[in-house]
Order: sequence, then structure tokens, then C-alpha cells
Amino acid sequence: MRDTKIMSYHNHFNYKRGELFCESTCISEVAQKVGTPFYLYSYNSLIGNYRKFAHTFSKLSPLICYSLKANGNLTLSRILAQEGAGADILSEGELHKALQAGFPPQKIVFAGPGKKEKEIECALKENIFMLNVESASELELIEKTAQRLNHTARVSLRLNPDVDVKTHRYITTGKKENKFGLVFDEAEKLYEKIKKSSLLKPVGIHMHIGSQITSSEPYLRALEKAGELFDLLKEKGLDLQYIDMGGGFGISYKKGKPPLDIEELAEKIYPLIKKREAKLIIEPGRFLVGPAGLLITQVLYKKRRREKTFIIVDAGMNDLIRPSLYDAYHQIKKLKEPDEAESDETVDVVGPVCESGDFFALGRSLPKISEGEYLALMDAGAYSFSMSFSYNARPRPAEVLVKEDHWWIIRKRETYQDLIKGEVIPDELFSSSKDSSAKNFSTISPSKREVAIFPSQKEPIFDLIPFTKMQGSGNDFIVVDNRGKIIKDRENFSKRVCSRKKGIGADGLLLLEESDKANFKMRIFNPDGTEAEMCGNAARCIARFVYLKGIAGEKCSFETLSGPISSYMNETQVKIRMKDPSRLHLNLKLILEDGSYEGHYLDTGVSHFILFVPEVEKAPLEKLGPKIRYHPYFQPQGTNVNFVEVERNGLKVRTYERGVEGETLSCGTGVVAAAIIADIVRGLGSPLKVKTKGGGLKVYFQRRDKTNFAQVFLEGEAKVVYEGRYERKGK
Ligand code: LLP
Repeated sequence: MRDTKIMSYHNHFNYKRGELFCESTCISEVAQKVGTPFYLYSYNSLIGNYRKFAHTFSKLSPLICYSLKANGNLTLSRILAQEGAGADILSEGELHKALQAGFPPQKIVFAGPGKKEKEIECALKENIFMLNVESASELELIEKTAQRLNHTARVSLRLNPDVDVKTHRYITTGKKENKFGLVFDEAEKLYEKIKKSSLLKPVGIHMHIGSQITSSEPYLRALEKAGELFDLLKEKGLDLQYIDMGGGFGISYKKGKPPLDIEELAEKIYPLIKKREAKLIIEPGRFLVGPAGLLITQVLYKKRRREKTFIIVDAGMNDLIRPSLYDAYHQIKKLKEPDEAESDETVDVVGPVCESGDFFALGRSLPKISEGEYLALMDAGAYSFSMSFSYNARPRPAEVLVKEDHWWIIRKRETYQDLIKGEVIPDELFSSSKDSSAKNFSTISPSKREVAIFPSQKEPIFDLIPFTKMQGSGNDFIVVDNRGKIIKDRENFSKRVCSRKKGIGADGLLLLEESDKANFKMRIFNPDGTEAEMCGNAARCIARFVYLKGIAGEKCSFETLSGPISSYMNETQVKIRMKDPSRLHLNLKLILEDGSYEGHYLDTGVSHFILFVPEVEKAPLEKLGPKIRYHPYFQPQGTNVNFVEVERNGLKVRTYERGVEGETLSCGTGVVAAAIIADIVRGLGSPLKVKTKGGGLKVYFQRRDKTNFAQVFLEGEAKVVYEGRYERKGK
């Protein structure tokens, strides 16, 4: 077995049974459900890294402020907040996120060379622990703002100690040519100003010398300087208590390149802090989240050229920019464990973005990779999602958290709607009038002009709900993606939209909703507002809908009230696996006013009564349908009623549907019930073709014994009729 241990610290990514697992979850199974690309984080790795870090520095009882810029995901941040961490932030946006995640304001520190007045104001109002000040002008603005708010501001100055940390030049921050902080003399002078001000309260000295630092030595040199300044200022009578040494703790991205030895660092800084009786603040980011995250991507194409082989994957530089920006190295693992006997090949792993800088690895020797397989970019928990963007109109990926054998989507994949959120098209620019728009513009009154220019910034006049009208074998449905809960009063909404005269008109409303067990949940509402458990034609329609909208792939599984359903797409034909039938009752005699009728009962997800008739066209459906549906035997739920004619090549079925309270052109679960009963009673076998008014269907099943059936599938067409927007009433 090759390379089973992947990370040096809290490693929760291992091959088991030939597959890469995160904790006890098989990653490729998550990939199939969530789609790629997506980020995946290990809960135990995150917690483990935090505890290891806290334990290592525990002798100094530091305040550990997690640097939110590494990964600001709310769930991950909340996990750390609950472990007792504070937060290091860079902007008002990060302040809002930190508070949202649950970090207490008194554990929040705020650094950054370009804080705006509004950001300073917000930090003061929230009463955060300290502002780490990076220039004389900033200090002046803080003082003014504090005065305006009648507040004191707790401040530390960020010392730029001018030390080389030997990391990538873009992430070196403690050299005097870098924009960050104040050099020794500048800082010394400004502390005088702080000392004199009644509005500024000195807290300590701050530093952050760079990121991905793998040796203790630069920290020690920087701390020596900070210590010197600390001593000098104390002598001058400043009441300083804290030394904030920033973040930067390097991790192991490459095999053979060890992470920073934090035990050694803790050991070495101990005397420097202790001798000054200072309190310590540390701001780790990457060390906590970096090794806890992966970016999962799928190989789209393999392109061979004489010079080289390209592996083109579905993640791009917009999802993970570190290799393009810093020449950063991320290990790439196959989710299928590589075969040791096979030789490696040298490839470029590249993304789909229109930039030659869009790559994850160049000239890398990797085990053989095939089209369609999944890959993991390792150690992608830090500065990966947080630096993603949507160039080329590529929605940003989903984020998933794994804890043992459980997993949750902790951030949904961006939608195309998200990509245009906030965009405004000025109507005025596209006016069809021949007159110049400028002339038009000047002739309309100011109030009208405003509406004309930015109509979408006004209160919406209509509340329009996007829907797709679909039909499956003549059952027509209105399908609405309700994952954003745009429809709350589902029953009334169904009544309105399904109305043939006053609404769109349909046999039912299908709502696509969130599920934590499957790709999604399907809910079906009848035109009378009642909720149905399941309908085979509806299931086919929704399976095609999610496929066409890119919500799920050709195969998917979804929840219904009557249990899980799986579906398989074949162009416009969709095959769905139905629930195994139950509650069979053969030769059931129903006494009605005008005589008795013998039929059969079966539950194929919903209740069905089957009545064999010589000629289905002539069956008294309108008369008998409602009587059987409301027969006391089936109460309180009632039943659907199917009239079935046996033909040479299969069956002909007409259905009276409960809820619709009339005949529908076809009913999927009814057709399945008819086929199974026909096999029991007439021995017709599988597969069985069934004609309905809405079109042909095919039922597949396996008969286990006389009355037991399994592996039941229904196949038939599912088509989009049109798409539109429905005006919600009474907004
Ligand atoms: N404190 C301050 C003031 C910072 O600016 C940073 C990171 C940290 C703490 C946390 O540093 P860490 O422990 O994560 O190294 N995008 C780059 C890294 C930029 C670091 C920015 N500042 C990358 O992907 O390597």
C-alpha cells in the first residue's frame, strides 16, 4: 500500500478498502451526491489541530485568536469559537462573520493597513479587544472616531521588525519594504502619543511577520525586537500587558518538507514572554484549518501531446488560486487508491479557466489518472475557499463538513442566480425609442426618472416565482425549486397554481426541497392542497428536472414521503426504482349501492385498488371511481382506483386519482400496481408494457414468491413543456 499516511498532524484522510476516506466517510460517495468541485473538511482534524496548538502553548496561557481570513466558514469558525478561541480579523465584513460565528467581542483583534473610518467605528461600537494599528494616520483617525463616539479605544501598534522569514515574497509581511506595521522608531514615537491621549488605551505590541513560516528562528528574532520595545516603553511608563506574535505557523504541504516545529517554538519563546511578565496572543490560521480541508475535483479530459499530458479537471484557479498565485504546492491524491504495480506518469493538472496560469500542478509525476475519476487537492483548508472567486461566471464550490460517518453541506454551491445578484441593467440605456436617451431623460420628471433608470432598486411590483411545467405520460406538474423556501404556504399555493382556470393548471405541484439524506426531497401537492406521498410520473419529472438544471446527475436518489427513490436518465426516458409493494389484498369484495365489485388492493407507495374490466374505454370510471375512493374500507386516507384491461402485449389502464378527484391521463404508481397484480392474477411476467391515455410505460419487477415483489422499476417519458414565472398573490 502506498502512502497511506497523508498528513503529519491530525490525519483523518486515509485509504481504506481502496478508497480515500475522511474519518469514516468514503469521499467519492459524498462527491457523487454533492457534485464537483467541492471543499471537504474533517471535523476531527480541525478540533485536533486546535487542541494540539492550544496544548503546545498552554504553559503561556495565550489568547488564541483564529485568523478568520484563512477560512471564514461559519460552521468551522463556530467550532473553534466553542473550543474557546478568539478571532483575528481584517475587515468589518470579517467582524460581522466573527460575531455571527460566536466569537466574543472581547476576544477579537483587528489588524490591517487600510481600515476605513466606518470599520473603526464598528469595531469600537462592538467593543472588541484591540485594534492593531499600522500607521500614524490610522491612529489619528481612531482617536478622532473614539472622541466622536465618546469611547476609549484599546490599541496596540503593529511592529514591523524587519526580519526575513524566507517564505514566498507575497506572504512576507515583516520586512521594512512591506506595507505592514511601523518600524521600531516610528512605533516608539507613536506610543508617546498614545500615552498622552485620554481616548487611546495601550494594550501591548502586535506583530505578524508572514505566513507559512517553517522555522522558529525568525519568530525569535522578531520577538527579541518586540521585547526590546516592550521594555523601553514600560520604562517610559506605558502600561503594556500583551505581546501579540501574530500567525504564520507553517504546515507540511510536500512530503519530506516538515511543518514548523511548534513544540520547539513554544519552548524557545517561553523565556522571552515570561521574563517580561507579558501575556501572549497568537493568531494561527493555516495551522488549524489548512490540513483539515481538501478540494475534490473530477477529471474531465486527458489530453496527450508529444510534449506533455494534460489532466483537465473541473476545478479551476478561481476555486483554489494558491498554485497560480504563489506557485504553491498541494499534493494531489486519487480518491481510488492507486495500484502500486502501475507506473507513474508526468502530467500537468489544469483547470477549465481561460488562463494559462490556471493550473494545480505542472510536470508532476502522479499515479495513472483516467477521465471521470475524482482527485483530491490536499491541505486546501486554508486560503482556498476564502480566496475563491467566480471568474468566467463559475459558481463557487460547495463546502462539506465530515464528522466520522456523518456529513453536512455547510455552504451550498453558488447558483447562476447568485452570480448576477446585485446587478442592475439601466432600462434607459436600452430604450427602444429613436430619440436620444439623453433627451428623453431630461424630459421626464425626477420621480419617474428614478424608477425608469433603476427599476429593480425599487420595491418589486411583482413577486414572480420561476416554475417549470412538465409532463410525464400525460400527468402534468408544476415544478418549483423550493430549496430557498420561496413557497411557505404550500397547500394554498398548490390550490392556486394547479387551478386550470385561474392558475397555471396541473395535476399537481412538485416542490424540490432540501434533504440531509439524499440529493433532495420531492414533495407533491394535489390541486386540492393536500399532500400526496408519491407519484411515479411526478418522480420521473423531478428526476429529469434536477438533471436538466444541473442539480443532480444522470443517476440520483431523492426522498419522498413514502421513502427513498432512485432514478436513471436515458434521454427523455426516465427509469425510477419504486418502493417494494406492500399491503397486498387479493380478491377484495366491495359492496356498493348498485352491486358488488371484486378487485385487488396494493400499496406501491400509495394506495391502489385494481379492477379488471373487459374494455377499459367503456369502464364506468366517473361513476365507480369516487364510490370506491370513498368506500369505508379505505378510510380515512381513501384509495386511487385503476381500471385495467389485459391485452395481448400488456395492459391498458385508466386511473381515478384521489386528490385530483377525477381521471388523470396516467398514474405511475397505479400502473405499477396494475402490472404486479396482473402478474399475480394472470401471470403476465416482467417487463410489462402498459398503455395509458397519457402514453406508454414499462414496468420491471422481480417476483420473489407468489406475493412478494422486489426491484420494481417504472420507465417512461418525462418532458419539459415550458418554463415561466408565476405571480404570487397578495405580496
Ligand atoms: N494575523 C495576521 C495579522 C495576518 O495577516 C495573518 C495572515 C494571520 C494572522 C494568520 O496567518 P497564518 O497563521 O494563517 O499563516 N493567502 C496566503 C496567506 C496570507 C496570509 C495573510 N495573513 C496563502 O495562501 O499562503
